[in-house]
Amino acid sequence: MRWNTLAAAALFAPSNVLALLRFPCGQLVIDRLDPLVTPGMAPSPHLHQIVGGNSFNATMVPEKDMPQESTCTSCQFSEDFSNYWTAILYFKAKNGTYKRVPQIQNVGFEGVKGGMTVYYMQDGLYNFQQTSKVTAFQPGFRMFIGDVNARTREEVEKFRQLTFTCLQTLSTRDPQTLDFPKQPCPAGIMTALRFPTCWDGKNLDSPDHMAHMAYPESGTFETGGPCPASHPVRMPQLFYEVIWDTKQFNNKADWPDDGSQPFVWSFGDGTGYANHGDYVFGWQDDSLQRAMDSPCYQNCPTLKSQNNAAMNACTMKRRVNEDIDGWVKVLPGGHVANYRK
Ligand SMILES: *[C@@H]1O[C@H](CO)[C@@H](O)[C@H](O)[C@H]1NC(C)=O
Ligand SMILES: *[C@@H]1O[C@H](CO)[C@@H](O)[C@H](O)[C@H]1NC(C)=O
Repeated sequence: MRWNTLAAAALFAPSNVLALLRFPCGQLVIDRLDPLVTPGMAPSPHLHQIVGGNSFNATMVPEKDMPQESTCTSCQFSEDFSNYWTAILYFKAKNGTYKRVPQIQNVGFEGVKGGMTVYYMQDGLYNFQQTSKVTAFQPGFRMFIGDVNARTREEVEKFRQLTFTCLQTLSTRDPQTLDFPKQPCPAGIMTALRFPTCWDGKNLDSPDHMAHMAYPESGTFETGGPCPASHPVRMPQLFYEVIWDTKQFNNKADWPDDGSQPFVWSFGDGTGYANHGDYVFGWQDDSLQRAMDSPCYQNCPTLKSQNNAAMNACTMKRRVNEDIDGWVKVLPGGHVANYRK
């Protein structure tokens, strides 16, 4: 397993060759808010899980550098008041009712409640050197990746690497698929979201929250492909791993009789192709740039860290009050499972 190779190599590699941030963020809140795609709306059209700084709100204008108004963060690095969020996974039972799938943390981050694991990388995940120079995101920067309306493989292939892994154990990393796993996954389902890495150098955002960013012109971020002239600034690879704890839903007798898989995104997508994620930058001062310029791996001494208890203590009251724990007849916002546009 390549991941295990990386973990082993990292443990034994001289600590001065790597600069890769990998850290847990506990659950800040599960709420129906989306300051990027539907600013001002409370409720937003579908349910999200959010981590990071507690100034997260329905409206977050770039001019105000809102993350800096946070008084705590649910992420390990205490200078990181960014917000990271994704949709929520639901299980659809045979009787047609839905239940939210809880989240758990990655191997090594036990004790952190829910949330996700966040990476910032200078080079590809399996590159043990991490020597490329990258420019950190700027205050006010935000971006989105994915397509809420995607229901086909062709549509999700436009984005590089929005994937699922059927976890046999919490350390499974491959194979990865672009749609939901078809079989029960003993240790859960991992979604992995990789954002584009080339910036136009000018715009902190764009109308679709994507056009100010681009993929390398040839090759990939992993292979060190060059950024296109339109988007010349090489940024860190921002990467989320979210682990959905499907264990309580793995009884095949509860699955549809036609052999289809029972998981749907909180906006109803039952294919998985509409996997998407959001980011609002909020690192204090030059802390992210400093970290990317300093050789470190995971536990980066150039950054201030907080313990699990402090991460777990940073939560917010939900603004939209609705049932997010019980069995429900329709998904929050009125969505039902759908498999095509
Ligand atoms: C979110 O915005 C509302 C409306 O502007 C405000 O009343 C509330 O205090 C804000 N919440 C936080 C946590 O900043
Ligand atoms: C629907 O099925 C689930 C899973 O078997 C069960 O827990 C739930 O109580 C059922 N709900 C109704 C309304 O029958």
